[in-house]
Amino acid sequence: MSKLFITKPLSQLLDESKSDQGLRRSLSAFNLTTLGIGAVIGAGIFVLTGQAAAQYAGPAIVISFMISGLACLFAGLCYAEFASMIPISGSAYTYAYATMGEFVAWIIGWDLILEYLFAASTVAVGWSGYVVSFLKDFGLVIPAQFTAALGSVLVEVPQIGYKLATPELTKSLADSGIVIDSLPHLTGVLNLPAMFIVAIISMLLLIGIRESARFNNVMVVIKVFVILLFIGIGFMFVNKANWHPFIPENTGVWGHYGWSGILRGAAVIFFAYIGFDAVSTAAQESKNPQRDMPIGILGSLGISTILYILVAIVLTGIVSYTFLNVADPIAVGVNAMGSGLFWLRPIIKIAAIAGLTSVILVMLMGQPRIFFSMAKDGLLPPVFSKIHPRFKTPYVSTILTGFVAMVVAGILPINILGELVSIGTLLAFAIVCIGIIVMRVKRPDIERTFKTPFVPLVPILGAAICIYLMVSLPLDTWIRLIVWMSIGFLIYFTYGIKKSKLRNK
Ligand code: ALA
Repeated sequence: MSKLFITKPLSQLLDESKSDQGLRRSLSAFNLTTLGIGAVIGAGIFVLTGQAAAQYAGPAIVISFMISGLACLFAGLCYAEFASMIPISGSAYTYAYATMGEFVAWIIGWDLILEYLFAASTVAVGWSGYVVSFLKDFGLVIPAQFTAALGSVLVEVPQIGYKLATPELTKSLADSGIVIDSLPHLTGVLNLPAMFIVAIISMLLLIGIRESARFNNVMVVIKVFVILLFIGIGFMFVNKANWHPFIPENTGVWGHYGWSGILRGAAVIFFAYIGFDAVSTAAQESKNPQRDMPIGILGSLGISTILYILVAIVLTGIVSYTFLNVADPIAVGVNAMGSGLFWLRPIIKIAAIAGLTSVILVMLMGQPRIFFSMAKDGLLPPVFSKIHPRFKTPYVSTILTGFVAMVVAGILPINILGELVSIGTLLAFAIVCIGIIVMRVKRPDIERTFKTPFVPLVPILGAAICIYLMVSLPLDTWIRLIVWMSIGFLIYFTYGIKKSKLRNK
């Protein structure tokens, strides 16, 4: 027990980072930036923006994006300093091992599964929604029970087709005089398209990091190009009246418009920023990690933030926020531009599908690399760090991650998954921010090619905003987090504590 907070010596970490440990060093600063953009721009902007604007913030969702972006910027600056100092694959897990000790490292490593593996599943469910709707436009219909989570209830809405029976749907049907129970029902069996995409991407990741990075680049170019197209064309269709009132008056309920709505919107769309830190999991496959990691992390975060803010401004300018409570808000924005631009609709769907695909890819790439580092340290069984002799990828952990993510995507609904991912990521960000302060005090001597500015102010603010956003998530999500972490403690105290290489040295 006395060794619970044993820290991994930096000299050892630096030695490990110098060797590639069997992985292939092939990623440039450009690749790392596109990896970051690949992981970031996805379901958040293509799905959640509209709902957050419609339900919580109105046009002031733009401010919500700024607040969340600021929290991520502070955390991103801390990640960049760590990545330049300890360029090794485990990301926040490794940073914590060097600063706050093995137990905290385990906590964060276990917590990161929520961020990476569960985010892949969450976004796969979003992917499934877009693909099902895209195929339907071409007359291809997948039976609804095979496109939804196990046990979920679907109702057939007239003229629209099967939809998940949510309280919002019940209310909006009731508003049009329809009793939801009177409609035909179905029970979800499995989300097959979501499982399919996870399986395909896992196979690609198995084959190689270079191939995966190339595929990611194509997806990123498509999504960024189409987003720019939407912003460029959309600006011409802005009706300034839609921005008034910019901050709709609070309804008297916390979180429903007004400033509390902006804050609630910020917590919801925080999901849109998740992923820039995935860059740090590829440190040992980067050609020049000390220089390129900070570029990849901060570059991808900066580009995504600018795009988000512009999309939010344009979207709420072309259509009233009250119409945006849908699964495809950007498509609704295009509809509002008039029939002359209907050609843009399928293109938007393709961009969303490409965007979501790359998020799944980078998340499924990050997770095995964290397992890899944890197994190298003895905290997970050695099989997790096995490298494929030909493909040079951590193949066992890639297959395992893919399999679990596939099952989770097949059986769980998107809202539960999404909130778990957010709370897990916020916790990791807060620990990284605190870690920077600890490291500055404990080891001011180590060379840092990138330094977080205004320490301790930036990390304190970063951690404070993350904790605040965590607090604003629902109680159920907290309970799930506690259950998840308890399982982690059990594994650590029955396995990791005995097998840790550092303890048994
Ligand atoms: N930021 C990622 C997305 O929005 C997880 O899909």
